[in-house]
Amino acid sequence: MLDGTVITCSAPVNIAVIKYWGKRDDELILPVNSSLSVTLHQDQLKTTTTIACSRDFQEDRIWINGREEDINQSRLQSCLREMRRLARKRSGDGDPAHGVAGLSHKVHICSVNNFPTAAGLASSASGYACLVYTLSRLFGVEGELSAVARQGSGSACRSMYGGFVQWKIGERADGKDSLAEQVQPETHWPELRVLVLVVNAQRKHIGSTSGMQTSVKTSSLLKHRAECLVSGQMDKMMRAINTKDFSAFGELTMQDSNQFHATCLDTYPPIFYLSDVSRQIINLVHCYNHHYREIKVAYTFDAGPNAVIFTLQEHLPEFVQVVRYFFPPESNEEQFLKGLSVDSVPVS
Ligand code: PMV
Repeated sequence: MLDGTVITCSAPVNIAVIKYWGKRDDELILPVNSSLSVTLHQDQLKTTTTIACSRDFQEDRIWINGREEDINQSRLQSCLREMRRLARKRSGDGDPAHGVAGLSHKVHICSVNNFPTAAGLASSASGYACLVYTLSRLFGVEGELSAVARQGSGSACRSMYGGFVQWKIGERADGKDSLAEQVQPETHWPELRVLVLVVNAQRKHIGSTSGMQTSVKTSSLLKHRAECLVSGQMDKMMRAINTKDFSAFGELTMQDSNQFHATCLDTYPPIFYLSDVSRQIINLVHCYNHHYREIKVAYTFDAGPNAVIFTLQEHLPEFVQVVRYFFPPESNEEQFLKGLSVDSVPVS
């Protein structure tokens, strides 16, 4: 790493179809269950991060969407510390291209999302994946880095890979086997499409960290889900993806989303991420599928009211028309309807 080096990278968001909810270790960010997601296309919802390194910088600093944020947040510090440790290890291993001297330089980090931040659209996943990847380029670190991204935000480990990605729960207390792994590449299912319906672009009222903590403490459904339900759902989901069985994929995706939000409701005090519009979208999807007697579209919701719709290319134009009919973009009756916009995001 040379003084004055500037590196820019981008990383896409991933959408979980088997959700991660609950940590067994808050420090290392180790989950209570394995999860599985679809990484979106690079050109769609993404974070772009630029990192500069200079001997003239007095301290590490970070700007997110143009605003300076606290660099001392523990998760940011975990990623920075771990990446510097790996870089030092690599220099120690004798690679002359990467002098240790540069590692003492401070970094300035600028990160920008091209979509609403902290609104339940996986901004922390693309954000931390991008941070770790850009640092790896700056420091010349190669290899498995999902465990570092995981320490920024759990779901970020899955954005280190494209296509269909599983984050394995792992067994070790040090988290070394709690890693992301590509199940199928981005080329596997070219007909699959993702549609993001932005119901509300505001920041969510309960962040995933505190939401998970309360759920782990109070929800017996979460315990049952993690111990008994997820592994069976995961096996079925892997089969559906491997065989490109949309009907099974869609059903499992909707069931898992519903189970996650049921867990939120089972948390005490309960957590409500879905809004009335979210529920209208859920009903619309079920009516649409019922009309065709087939699962043609599926919804999933993370920690926010915004819907992510999965469908196949052949059904996309019609379903977009249906959404536009029921939620006209020009409608100004309600603020959340006004904010509803439709975006078609190809997965591959
Ligand atoms: O990685 P976090 O702390 O942003 O948590 C993500 C949790 C969900 O988005 C609700 C589910 C998931 O697996 O992405």
